[in-house]
Amino acid sequence: MFDPYKVREDFPILKRKINNHPLIYFDNAATSQKPRQVIDAIKEYYEQHNANVHRAVHTLSLEATELYEEAHGEVAKFIGARSMEEVVFVRGTTEAINLVAYSWGLKSLKQGDEVLVTLMEHHSNIVPWEILSKIKGFKVKYLDVNNDGTINHEAFKEALSPKVKIVCVTHVSNVTGVINDVKLLAKIAHENGALMLVDGAQSIPHIPVKVKDLDCDFLAFSGHKMLGPTGIGVLYGKREILEKMEPFHGGGEMIREVSFNPKTRKCTISWNDLPWKFEAGTPNICGGVGLMAAVKYLKTLGMENVKAHECTLTEYAMKRLKECEKTTVYGPQDSTIKCGIIPFNIEGFNSHDVALLLDSYGIMIRSGFHCAQPLHQKFKLSSSARASFYIYNTKEEIDSFIEALKEIEQSL
Ligand code: ALA
Repeated sequence: MFDPYKVREDFPILKRKINNHPLIYFDNAATSQKPRQVIDAIKEYYEQHNANVHRAVHTLSLEATELYEEAHGEVAKFIGARSMEEVVFVRGTTEAINLVAYSWGLKSLKQGDEVLVTLMEHHSNIVPWEILSKIKGFKVKYLDVNNDGTINHEAFKEALSPKVKIVCVTHVSNVTGVINDVKLLAKIAHENGALMLVDGAQSIPHIPVKVKDLDCDFLAFSGHKMLGPTGIGVLYGKREILEKMEPFHGGGEMIREVSFNPKTRKCTISWNDLPWKFEAGTPNICGGVGLMAAVKYLKTLGMENVKAHECTLTEYAMKRLKECEKTTVYGPQDSTIKCGIIPFNIEGFNSHDVALLLDSYGIMIRSGFHCAQPLHQKFKLSSSARASFYIYNTKEEIDSFIEALKEIEQSL
């Protein structure tokens, strides 16, 4: 039985008071808080096992290597990958998408080709493609979204043509919380000969996701939004595609052999096996260990339970927000097609002022355009305030949030 009050006991930071109020953390789309299990795993790693991986034969190095590899295996199981060869550890979603852009895109894209993205993408799923298009001369094509921020599947089909080589779509919008049917989009993309990259930054922490079911070619996500530490994230790729790709970063760890020929005075280099071919240099070992602890924690809770809890909170918050007469909520009003993210503005207030006023009640939200300016332009907004929920949030916290919003509305 999922019990958010019991879950809260695992999160030391939730005992804090901010501005004399109990901390209410509603900025989970930006980063999640960390349970004691993750904090302890990191502490234990540094206190007991710290060494470099894949290099030395001593005990500590073997222990660190085992933990780091086990972390890849746990993540592979969590997302339903065939093996840990399909799981590359990177710094986060942004680096994962850059890896695909440079390792796959640099070789595979040319003038006349198109990369299809949507207007709801986070900048990290737009900017790498725009940068690469300047080098390779292909076109980044933007799929418009409906007025409520959802994807029109007919328009998606029409946007596809043999020119489109890869479709890059977020699973869950970090602005509206809309859940895209990426399984259907991947099927349509594949029927049209395109690969499918899914930005899972806002889905993997919140809903059950299995790559085999989605049949996506790439999936990018971050550890820090799913209870893990910052600086660790994942690129999932189908093995047969990763095998054909050139490395993104060069250096130690990612090579099998660097052989110097004294006659030609050149080096012949061969790559290491997957996934190490894409993990140049000393990796974020401790980050991997922390991510493994986070994955185990989420597995114990059950992702179906996580999703159900957040759906309940979202439905409740959307209903209660109707009581706030000067508050406008953006995106779909139907809470069943979205995850726990609610963007809003209060008439007469700048979103940053709303965030600052809520802070005085101990409530943490994000304000601005959330690294998704094109979607804000679509909504004709310069910015929005955003409340986003996770496993440790409660209905009582939403009640406090609504009361604070009402007071802010009255203060003008
Ligand atoms: N991408 C994160 C957010 O939406 C930082 O806030």
